[in-house]
Amino acid sequence: MSSVFGHVQAVPNDAIFNLKTLYESDTHPQKVDLGIGAYRTEDGTPWVLPVVRTVEAQMSSDETLNHEYLAIDGLRSFTDAAARLLLGEDSVAITENRYCGVQTLSGTGALRLAFEFYLKHLGQRAVYISKPTWGNHRGVIGEVGFTDIREYCYWNAEQKAVDIDGLLRDLKDAPEGSIVLLQACAHNPTGMDPTKEQWRLIADVVQERKLIPLFDSAYQGFASGDVDNDAYSVREFVKRGVELFTAQSFSKNFGLYNERTGSLCCVLSSTEMASVVRSQLKYLCRRLWSNPPNHGARIVATVLNNPALRADWLESLLIMSSRIKKARQELYQRLRTKGTPGTWEHIVTQIGMFSFSGLSVQQCEVLTNKYHIYLLKNGRISMCGLNSNNLDYVAAAIDDVVRQSNGSVD
Ligand code: LMR
Repeated sequence: MSSVFGHVQAVPNDAIFNLKTLYESDTHPQKVDLGIGAYRTEDGTPWVLPVVRTVEAQMSSDETLNHEYLAIDGLRSFTDAAARLLLGEDSVAITENRYCGVQTLSGTGALRLAFEFYLKHLGQRAVYISKPTWGNHRGVIGEVGFTDIREYCYWNAEQKAVDIDGLLRDLKDAPEGSIVLLQACAHNPTGMDPTKEQWRLIADVVQERKLIPLFDSAYQGFASGDVDNDAYSVREFVKRGVELFTAQSFSKNFGLYNERTGSLCCVLSSTEMASVVRSQLKYLCRRLWSNPPNHGARIVATVLNNPALRADWLESLLIMSSRIKKARQELYQRLRTKGTPGTWEHIVTQIGMFSFSGLSVQQCEVLTNKYHIYLLKNGRISMCGLNSNNLDYVAAAIDDVVRQSNGSVD
């Protein structure tokens, strides 16, 4: 039978999620998942944070809760707590009441909403993303309809460090009023953030060139284990009086991956402007998803607004970030002991969920095809996938693929 959709072509699977499917269907006993950025325990299993379990148990027995619609902009106790977490309790944006938070379908929903808003109210203009960046950024921006998506230098592959000179140069060359997407901390995929000093230089250029910053904050607290430290970049811009939006995700730091819990937190020049922006964002939300889901937002709000539960959550953040730091050390030590050609210090200097290993596309393919180790072809390793059961195996496999290609690492 013919179809009215006969002209529609299939598109390739999403690289990150496809890797998860391939891993799950692989029956090899030693398979290792270093693909998707989702926390795993030492046993290689997902972790429901104890505080999340506690709150869920309370919620399930609380008969005052129901399944009524939330407001279009979500649960205010959640978006306000999320804003305070991001900006800091004593932020001028909070004390001067010139911010608004709108609940979204996690970080991706917040990004989509921000770009819908920008296109509608600012019109076509250049949008800058880092080179490299999270694989979905370009797609989200492009699907909204922005056509001029440019990359700013971010990564110096040789030095395995942030290319701060290239970054500043590219932003200086950006047309005034361009939108620039910055990752607040734990840069995906490189695991390398600008230093505080470098953030100040970036903020200088953003101000000079009147760029419009949008932060993607997917790892607050998950990166260093310290929620304030991980918010330094955003707070530095806010301190200077810069208007900005931040896409906040609670997938990683609360382990609420499938609850799609996020907020678009906006800092504006005045209370009036914040109220106007909120109304416009609500207008867009209503047309995109009408109103957001309750479960994850209620958990996060309950935890952040209760000192004892919050303290419990901060402990879990430390457990997760410390486990990843340990996995970094363990992998690095093994490669050093083996004398694997190349330099591997970056594995321990990088931060957050990922290590940008420097392995080539071909080396990654061999790791997957021969060793059943799943990782992105750009060499990104999700560090959570490493544990004491597979570290020796992974280190030996990396050693082998590097030696097989005569020690060449990107
Ligand atoms: C990742 O980069 O692996 C995660 O952020 C998951 C995702 O949605 O891509």
